[in-house]
Amino acid sequence: MTYLKKIKTTNSLRQQRKEEHLKMALSLKTGPKCAGFEDVEFVHQALSNHSLDDINTSTCFLGKELKAPFLIEAITGGTLKGKEINKALAKGAFETGIAMAVGSQTIAIEDPSIRETFSVVREYNPHGVILANVSANVPVEIALAAIDMIKADGIQLHLNLAQELLMEEGDRDFRQTGKNIAAIIKDSPVPVIVKEVGFGFSKETVLELWGLGVKLLDLGGAGGTNFAAIENSRRSRPLSTDWYQWGIPTAASILECKATKLPISIIASGGINNGINAAKALALGAHMVGAATPFLKSVEGLSQFNSLNDAINTWRLELEMTMLLVGAKNIQDLRKKPLLLTGATKAWQDSRKLK
Ligand SMILES: Cc1cc2nc3c(=O)[nH]c(=O)nc-3n(C[C@H](O)[C@H](O)[C@H](O)COP(=O)(O)O)c2cc1C
Repeated sequence: MTYLKKIKTTNSLRQQRKEEHLKMALSLKTGPKCAGFEDVEFVHQALSNHSLDDINTSTCFLGKELKAPFLIEAITGGTLKGKEINKALAKGAFETGIAMAVGSQTIAIEDPSIRETFSVVREYNPHGVILANVSANVPVEIALAAIDMIKADGIQLHLNLAQELLMEEGDRDFRQTGKNIAAIIKDSPVPVIVKEVGFGFSKETVLELWGLGVKLLDLGGAGGTNFAAIENSRRSRPLSTDWYQWGIPTAASILECKATKLPISIIASGGINNGINAAKALALGAHMVGAATPFLKSVEGLSQFNSLNDAINTWRLELEMTMLLVGAKNIQDLRKKPLLLTGATKAWQDSRKLK
């Protein structure tokens, strides 16, 4: 009850924050850190016995078939603008056959007028894979309500410590988070995915999450949308811009997860901005690839693509081209192809002894 009371008093602040996040994600540059895919190289194979038409990017995710292993990451909801964006994202996900998540739904638990800014996704994508999203700190009943609100196929619980600490109004006490994740996993009727928002997961965190019962991770690494920069720009008294360098780059975070040798499914996200980098993330060990700002920009007409569908279809074409060039007929083949690591990502792997 205390939690819901807190929500009531802070809903207008949450709406304002969501609007600011959208504006800043669209206006601030990504980086300064790189996601690390410039350090990951495939070995080109000059002779092929495949046709581009034979390359199969389809994937099974949460029991449903997708045309490509792509996820439109959690972005928005809770405002009129958020509803329009969710509608466009759901339509694009349906038409191109990929998965999507909605933004954090806590704002809509108490206020029925806000719910449709999230549930609109089911009108435009009734049978596709759609993920609910709440903080890993919300009580179990809020997580269950979020799932029900959009008839979700799975739920993302976001861990965003660095973002909260940079936020003037953010949370400061994280002592119950682990127990809370375990409680939500116990009661959730759908798979639970624990997710970062741009600072990545380390091997140590993954091992701890596994101990809590987590089987699916969205590692949200550094190198794309920078929530340290976004929150610092929202502060009345900004902190050091050195915070913009915080976090584990996405490529390194995949290596961290894989080094645990656990049978955990990985969604790689954070700074993945085309089909070649998506292919690299899959070959490094990810099962799915997610992106937020690149798809948001295509909805808002701020990218090189004509539309969201154009962006997704181009990513898929680039994934197919990469697969043909390394001799992989399907995603399972691609995940076995050799890679070369160089630069900062290789240095990260060596210095953390990740093999
Ligand atoms: C405007 C905006 C709002 C976001 N809101 C949420 C959110 O509510 N919940 C969440 O888990 N992640 C949220 N994210 C983080 C993304 O889901 C993703 O993890 C992050 O942006 C890294 O991916 P990218 O580099 O492809 O943008 C948001 C991202 C953006 C750009």
